[in-house]
Amino acid sequence: MLHKITDLLKEVSAINVKTPEDLELFRLKYLSKKGILSELFEDFKNVTSSEKKEVGQKLNQLKQSAFEKYNSIKSQLASDEDSTLAIDLTRPAVPYPFGSRHPISIVRNEIINIFSRIGFIISEGPEIEDDNHVFTKLNFAPEHPARDMQDTFYISRISPEDSNPEDILLRTHTSSVQVRVMEGQQPPIRTISPGRVFRNEAISARAHCIFHQVEGLYIDENVSFADLKQTLLFFAREMFGKETEIRLRPSYFPFTEPSAEMDVSCKICGGKGCNVCKYTGWLEILGCGMVHPGVLEACNIDSKRYTGFAFGMGIERLAMLRYQVNDLRLYFENDQRFLDQFRTAF
Ligand code: PHE
Repeated sequence: MLHKITDLLKEVSAINVKTPEDLELFRLKYLSKKGILSELFEDFKNVTSSEKKEVGQKLNQLKQSAFEKYNSIKSQLASDEDSTLAIDLTRPAVPYPFGSRHPISIVRNEIINIFSRIGFIISEGPEIEDDNHVFTKLNFAPEHPARDMQDTFYISRISPEDSNPEDILLRTHTSSVQVRVMEGQQPPIRTISPGRVFRNEAISARAHCIFHQVEGLYIDENVSFADLKQTLLFFAREMFGKETEIRLRPSYFPFTEPSAEMDVSCKICGGKGCNVCKYTGWLEILGCGMVHPGVLEACNIDSKRYTGFAFGMGIERLAMLRYQVNDLRLYFENDQRFLDQFRTAF
């Protein structure tokens, strides 16, 4: 019996198992209930007690090596199967859909790019603000209608009848960021503040309670209205093309004096008149003016030494002109069918 086991040991280690079918045959032959090992353990009962020790050890050795061989080939075959799948280079790749930038982000980045080329830096500030930074320091009279509940979302209001610098509200324009910049820094100041703003408007195609602005501020010695005009002309031509003309119309803002609204010549009809410019040849795009001396003083800037200009524009308005998408709600609904159309833009 000892010889038989020794021969089997050699046989087991020499056997070449390559396929799952061969492995099953190996199992049936050596390891199954009716296989060689079971048979040998059966015969072992008849071994004389003087031989038992030696034969027993050999038999266990055979059993161990047969099981080891079986288990190692089994796991080898399983991992071969995985790796053949993983490196099947003929399989078509899974298509990877790229996202697209939101049109508001595209236009905002363009505006930021243009102003940063002429030395404006970006400032940001909180969306939840106090009355002081949104209204009072910007020279809004206490009874100014913008403070009314109709226009402003209040978070906490000390008294609904009277304005209070400590009232907490959602900013209605990013001019509040400029107040914070002026409070913290002496001129020269040259900054733009892009951001989200909130007004209590009923939502329609032409109005929304949330929109986006970029406002600009430039303060130094001898800054004049001519500087404002040239800066805005540069911006308009970079944004809408070299042929673009601008027009300034007198306007009113509490924080600028004099104040103006700026129109650009309609790019769509070249100034001849079309339904986008309502047959005027001009499109209004921003508000601007010379910073009111009272605003400078409220922010501890010497209004005798320094002057400055400010401007502010709505990003949605510019996006509407650029993409001819005239329903504001589309910019906020995140409908994939709408957003997908901006995939080729950057
Ligand atoms: N803050 C004004 C607005 O929200 C825009 C503006 C900014 C006008 C700066 C003049 C100067 O409409």
